[in-house]
Amino acid sequence: MAYIGVMAKRRTILIHPDLRLRKVCTPVRDITDGVRALAGDMLETMYGAPGIGLAAPQIGATERIIVMDCVKEEEAAPRPMVLINPEIVARSDETNIHEEGCLSIPDQFAEIERPAAVTVRWLGLDGNEHRQAFDGLWATCIQHEIDHLNGKLFIDYLKPLRREMITRRMRKLKREKARA
Ligand code: NI
Repeated sequence: MAYIGVMAKRRTILIHPDLRLRKVCTPVRDITDGVRALAGDMLETMYGAPGIGLAAPQIGATERIIVMDCVKEEEAAPRPMVLINPEIVARSDETNIHEEGCLSIPDQFAEIERPAAVTVRWLGLDGNEHRQAFDGLWATCIQHEIDHLNGKLFIDYLKPLRREMITRRMRKLKREKARA
């Protein structure tokens, strides 16, 4: 599929624990062909997983880019979004608890409390600055993905014991994958 008009390929998703998932990513300065290609690969990888969001570090890139599509209905048209240098400019006082998962932490889920609504500013692939308010699943997803750009994972919100248990499971999963 070519979601944004560039040939894209599905990339390998890094699994926690991995130091590349813990890096603070760097802002994108120009919308180059390389940035477009990376965004295309990220969408391909996200839809292929399948998932509703993906951040650049999850495929080993270090640019501040996230992609998402939280349209849930099977029949609805896809709504691929590419957000470059996304920044939360406002958060609601009201919070929401959503069950979160992560493509880098497969099959593990936890209820995480976050602001129910956020306003986000970002650079689009069109080179323009965008600003939009998100709520519901979109708000949860966008905060989760922006966390990735700062080297943060949803399990960081959990108590240490639970986080360590999940991390042990992921180490085991990676050992099994390496052997297969
Ligand atoms: Ni994630």
